[in-house]
Amino acid sequence: MSANAVTADETPTSVSTRPVVRFLQGANLLGQTPFIAGNTLVEHAEDAGVRIPTNCTSGTCGTCMVTLIYGDVPLPDILPPGLDDYLVEECARLGCIGVPTGDVDVDIRPPL
Ligand code: FES
Repeated sequence: MSANAVTADETPTSVSTRPVVRFLQGANLLGQTPFIAGNTLVEHAEDAGVRIPTNCTSGTCGTCMVTLIYGDVPLPDILPPGLDDYLVEECARLGCIGVPTGDVDVDIRPPL
């Protein structure tokens, strides 16, 4: 039996669906795309056929601000000019520099 084999009474933890990045506007699902490690939210949105407006594409202007509903989009140690502590508490992320780590649901609107 191989190390990855699953017996009938075990949960197949190694068998999972591929992570998905979903884009919503309120309750409306606008699009979704398979998670690609290292790609930003904006790049995933393009793959999903969803447009997130951008300007600076460097985390400075806040044009691409979205709201993280589910999942993890890590923040840099030093917040970029486009975010502040209050916005982060409201689950704001910047699509141009935000890189998800797996399954993520994002509302394409800013939290405020
Ligand atoms: S486009 Fe300016 S912060 Fe993302």
